[in-house]
Amino acid sequence: MEMIVVSDVAELAQAARQKTLEALGDAVRARGRASLALSGGSTPRVLYQAFSSSKDPFDAVDFYFGDERAVPPDHPSSNYRMARDAWLSSIPEDRVHRMRGEAADLDGEALRYEKELPEKLDVVLLGMGDDGHTASIFPNTPPTTEKTRRVLALHAGAPEFKRLTITPPEIRNARKLVVLVAGKSKADRLKEVMYGPVDVVKLPVQLALREHPDCLLVVDKEAAIALRNMRA
Ligand code: 6PG
Repeated sequence: MEMIVVSDVAELAQAARQKTLEALGDAVRARGRASLALSGGSTPRVLYQAFSSSKDPFDAVDFYFGDERAVPPDHPSSNYRMARDAWLSSIPEDRVHRMRGEAADLDGEALRYEKELPEKLDVVLLGMGDDGHTASIFPNTPPTTEKTRRVLALHAGAPEFKRLTITPPEIRNARKLVVLVAGKSKADRLKEVMYGPVDVVKLPVQLALREHPDCLLVVDKEAAIALRNMRA
């Protein structure tokens, strides 16, 4: 696990932008195309805005989502809507593979999306919830123990929504993970995640931060304050 500590969300966006571009560039050089899965929540918005205002090349990149709430694409709680408003409106629609949160049959939509995913996601952006969840894999919910499915529907979270999420096998299968964590409300949980025992049922974000061989954590100093050698 590589960790970059930054002083604020603007720096967080620039560090994550640079590392994400490098990984996508490696994928394009190796295989001709690249895939990037986006996360929801509030922290990645600044990263999406940084991509949007740059001239970074994304012609060879396909966009996917790590999770979505069961709402239509123009709903304020839609992860797709946040990403579209911050960035994706400039990307051709045929390269934006959204999870259809408005589907009446969410289990059917999970199965459909599994087939839409590439064999391996090149870069997956993730966050960490205050409870240690990542994507919409919440502590002690069925996706935490999933062994084969790539995408599942579930009902969980705060705010509670029906949701779609990639699963632990899909996170393990990704080539690179970039985890963004910001704000003092995350500090104690991040310490537990990093130094406590590994239990991905209780702390799903450990799938990334403790288990994945190519994971980058970009963290602001407020969230990093409880980590070793981080005290001012
Ligand atoms: C979502 C997410 C979720 C998020 C974390 C952190 O749809 O809610 O993908 O896993 O990344 O909850 O969210 P913040 O960036 O808002 O802290």
